[in-house]
Amino acid sequence: MNKIKSRSGTFTDNMKLPIHRWFRYSAGFSAEWVISEIQKFQDETGEKATVLDPFLGSGTTSLAACSIGSESYGFDGHPFVARIAQAKNLWHLDEMVFKEACLEVIKKAEADKSETLRHYETGLLGKCYDFDTLTKLDNLRNAYEDLADGNPIWELVRLNITSILRACSKVGTAQWQYVLPKKSKSKVLGVSEAFIGKAELMAADMEYAKSANWVNNAHIFEQDVRKNIEAPKCNLLLTSPPYPNNYDYADATRLEMTFWGEVNGWGDLKTVVRPTIMRSCSQHSAGDKVVLDEVLCDPLLAPIIDELTLVTRKLEKVRLTKGGRKAYHTMVAAYFLDLAKIWKNTKKVMAENSRICFVVGDSAPYGVYVPAEEWLGKLAIASGYKDFEFEKLRDRNVKWKNRTHTVPLHEGRLWVKG
Ligand SMILES: C[S@@+](CC[C@H](N)C(=O)[O-])C[C@H]1O[C@@H](n2cnc3c(N)ncnc32)[C@H](O)[C@@H]1O
Repeated sequence: MNKIKSRSGTFTDNMKLPIHRWFRYSAGFSAEWVISEIQKFQDETGEKATVLDPFLGSGTTSLAACSIGSESYGFDGHPFVARIAQAKNLWHLDEMVFKEACLEVIKKAEADKSETLRHYETGLLGKCYDFDTLTKLDNLRNAYEDLADGNPIWELVRLNITSILRACSKVGTAQWQYVLPKKSKSKVLGVSEAFIGKAELMAADMEYAKSANWVNNAHIFEQDVRKNIEAPKCNLLLTSPPYPNNYDYADATRLEMTFWGEVNGWGDLKTVVRPTIMRSCSQHSAGDKVVLDEVLCDPLLAPIIDELTLVTRKLEKVRLTKGGRKAYHTMVAAYFLDLAKIWKNTKKVMAENSRICFVVGDSAPYGVYVPAEEWLGKLAIASGYKDFEFEKLRDRNVKWKNRTHTVPLHEGRLWVKG
């Protein structure tokens, strides 16, 4: 099975594509897959697609829709990630004005002789950059902050700075974007070189998108979709929610958020990011002191309550035998409760006979199997959807591969009928 088919693509595929490639968001799927699904839907139904993505991430679905003239509605609850998607959605602005703004910023930054005050040894920034590099990045940031006015073009300049932060860091970043301060990188870009290079690439992509007749018809919102979704009726939903696999979406962008002063440490993620994203990691459910009995009482979980109770009670016991005592029991319960709410909310905006696809994977925290697609399918039916089927794409055992359990895991597309 080739890579694209087996994973609905990965975000790596997007790093070759105009606009999509502006920010590497490893949690994403392939834009080409989205385009093929929109086209297939239109061919098979004869309807024009209006696309919804309630977990938009860095904007793949919306931007793919723009590239073939479809209207779309996208939501992400993570403030940093939603801002990235919104900034990419400004591809239609004037590339010459953008380039001039970048030039102004780099000129001002290079003329600035002040030194950074943020190079404390223990902080994340101190670990990721040497003094010189952080000074240059801070000068860029200060220049941007001095020059930016209300013109949306400045959001693109800010995105440029954000997008070069990892390339200019001397330390490694994991495949899933956590920072690895102890791992050094062989290729590190200079700050000016990276900023100017990215400005050129972004301007060229903006020009390309216009020449390729992209349509500026994406509506992108920073919103927690556990709350009511406001959008006109959509007939095609393509998305990928967080998996119940302990990946910490809040922590994934800590470097960038620290750079911009949005958080000052890991603890700040609890108040700045976690409140508006669903619970899919144990740090989140433990930090919020989620109580298992309370979650299991929620009537929204009735369709899966027997299986869910068995699994979460088992996890509650198993954790006591483990050094980390991770709160997977509350993570799993809260995960399905959050998705039960989200199914209900999406149902209200999906048209009759619509098509829904969730790219999902299962998990096995502490070796206890969590059949995500089956439970999500049951919750979907309880929300009023008609039918579900799972198309398995590949076997996986990524997150848990170094652990002791040998539970086989997989990933695929959960197709639901609206
Ligand atoms: C797998 S990623 C989606 C990536 C996307 N397909 C892309 O290509 O960039 C899941 C996204 O769901 C978002 N998310 C988590 N909880 C959410 C919530 N309650 N409301 C809206 N978005 C949420 C996360 O911030 C994350 O960006």
